[in-house]
Amino acid sequence: MPATIEGSIKNSFSLPLSEIKKIIKDFHSEMCRGISGKKSSLKMISTYVNKPTGKERGKFLALDLGGTNFRILEIELKGDGKILPGKEKKFVLAKHHISGEGRKLFDFISGCIKKFCSEQGIKTYEQRKIGFTFSFPVRQTGIAKGVLLHWTKDFSASGVVGQDVVRLMNEALIRNGLRNIKIAALVNDTVGTLAAAAYQDQDCDVGVIIGTGTNACYQGKVKRMIINIEWGGFNKLRRTYYDELLDKSSNNSGQQMLEKMVSGMYLGEIARLAIQDLIKKQRIFKGQRNGFNLAKSFKSEHLSEVETDNSVNLSGINIILKKMGLKSSTLQERKTIKVICHAVSERGARISAAVLAAVITKIDPALCRRHTVAVDGSVYAKHPGFANHMKSALREIFGKRTGRLNLVLAKDGSGIGGAIIASLAASGNNQ
Ligand code: GLC
Repeated sequence: MPATIEGSIKNSFSLPLSEIKKIIKDFHSEMCRGISGKKSSLKMISTYVNKPTGKERGKFLALDLGGTNFRILEIELKGDGKILPGKEKKFVLAKHHISGEGRKLFDFISGCIKKFCSEQGIKTYEQRKIGFTFSFPVRQTGIAKGVLLHWTKDFSASGVVGQDVVRLMNEALIRNGLRNIKIAALVNDTVGTLAAAAYQDQDCDVGVIIGTGTNACYQGKVKRMIINIEWGGFNKLRRTYYDELLDKSSNNSGQQMLEKMVSGMYLGEIARLAIQDLIKKQRIFKGQRNGFNLAKSFKSEHLSEVETDNSVNLSGINIILKKMGLKSSTLQERKTIKVICHAVSERGARISAAVLAAVITKIDPALCRRHTVAVDGSVYAKHPGFANHMKSALREIFGKRTGRLNLVLAKDGSGIGGAIIASLAASGNNQ
């Protein structure tokens, strides 16, 4: 393949510091517009909760819904920044739950809660308050009240958009005979992640998720509460031809533009579209049958596997290509695949760093203080090189001051944080 094509693909995905600076500026102006209620691609949602102090105590339940797995957990807060993990169970949502009737989705979840309680010996005749981590854009009007604005991450269950999801969940609990179990707080996963980390480290003031979807929240000063940015919707980024293609064929075209360039739901698909383009142009795999023309056939996990292959012959990539239906490939072709995958994921990491830098400088323009940033999500935690690319972009942006930023992996923070926020709501200390 001529170096120029490889170079031009790499170029189209590159994000130099000058562009990062522009993103930061645009992000700030969208944040301001969103906060003041003007039209903006950032929703800047008030959450009616402040971060915990670490002194909260007690046993609390949480439901964590935000992807194809749904979790129920119980944790104990010890009051000295310590959390005792307790019972936990994961349930898998089927396609018909995600895209069928909303009422059935909530009935399924409440059925799972009933099962969890009976298996774990949790008495359902006693009053129990639950934190509901619901990781979608919800316009909150109180700590336990909020209307779903639109679905993201391929969810499309009917009859939920425009409705108060706490009411829908509480009604489903009643239908299932769980009258004493009530949702005490509605929590975004970013807010849960921030809360879980802040419970143990008071410097934590930003929560980020880079997984199936991507988003962030921060402890606001002007509005004294945590603000859920919904940064996945940011739409002031330069897009490539492949981003346009992906957006057009998605079920939420025109929405979640940043999410479509960063999160695990889409990274593999962007790479697939770029690879398919080269195949169509007869630059690679000449005349061979292959599966790259099938939408969503190349997953973000494949992208991770490609990037982990450091063998001389790129034999790991060869195995993936075989799975994609290709009989044979040259070393040069495998190198090209690696270059494309790398360019796509590195761009995702640099965009994430740019918008994180914008959030930090919104809170603390000259980066005078220390900030712990709690990050969770499969892409950040597992994609090879992603966290490092993000950190090196932050170094480019902040130079020596980067030392004041501490990015910590807050594993399972969304569920734990849900329980912590439920404790704040139960004690009336949310604000
Ligand atoms: C999507 C949701 C957002 C969530 C993020 C990470 O962007 O809209 O609420 O925080 O995914 O799960």
